[in-house]
Amino acid sequence: MSKQRAKLVVGNWKMHGRLAENATLLQAVAQGASALPGDLRVGVCVPSPYLAQAQSLLAGSRIVWGVQDVSAFTHGAYTGEVAAPMVVDFGASLAIVGHSERRAYHRESAELVAVKTQRVLEAGLTPIVCVGETLEEREAGATEQVVGTQLDEVLAKLSVQDAARIVVAYEPVWAIGTGKSATSEQAQAVHAFLRSRLAAKGAEVADVPLLYGGSVKPENAEELFRQPDIDGGLIGGASLKDQDFLAICKAAAAVVGVAG
Ligand code: PGA
Repeated sequence: MSKQRAKLVVGNWKMHGRLAENATLLQAVAQGASALPGDLRVGVCVPSPYLAQAQSLLAGSRIVWGVQDVSAFTHGAYTGEVAAPMVVDFGASLAIVGHSERRAYHRESAELVAVKTQRVLEAGLTPIVCVGETLEEREAGATEQVVGTQLDEVLAKLSVQDAARIVVAYEPVWAIGTGKSATSEQAQAVHAFLRSRLAAKGAEVADVPLLYGGSVKPENAEELFRQPDIDGGLIGGASLKDQDFLAICKAAAAVVGVAG
């Protein structure tokens, strides 16, 4: 399982940003990323109103863009929802689903996350499916059971071909926005477990990108990305600062450069 896979670094802006500051950030990131070597893919998931801005400023760059959630429906009387095909209209290619903030604050069930993943795939987008345990669950020794169930609920609804098109992000809830990242050993252990669950779905699924998220910073990124089953990161707070986000991308490029 120490096969070298391309690294993927995706920014999750959450509900941050305004038109003027986004322009500065997007331009700086696009320019900085163009200079990076290596088999590296970079993305940003912006608030939906800024999709058109991302499209106009990132088209032609090495950065892809997307959203942080989609509706479980394709269209209809669902006030306030944004459907996956609408996102495609703006050249997006990524959609985060099942982020722990949506599971917690919007009571999204594992079933709903699985349906959203299907909608994202049907629209031709790449879903970044988030899984992760709370501190209580980790302390109770239930980490594998929790993340395994979250992943299995999604995989159960997908064909092997569709499952091979997803990205999975392991984001321990206790590490998100807390400044307290999982250690590289803790993260690698869960990633290896998730990798085995993916492989159980089918050989083609074993190599889907597995991102780590939760207080990734320039200081800890390289050590995390060096782990054999960590294929990159989903970056929250640090994706709002161009220098930090680019430093994290650089760490990913460095790891690919060395091992590849
Ligand atoms: P963080 O967030 O990097 O700010 O911890 C990660 C995420 O929630 O995706």
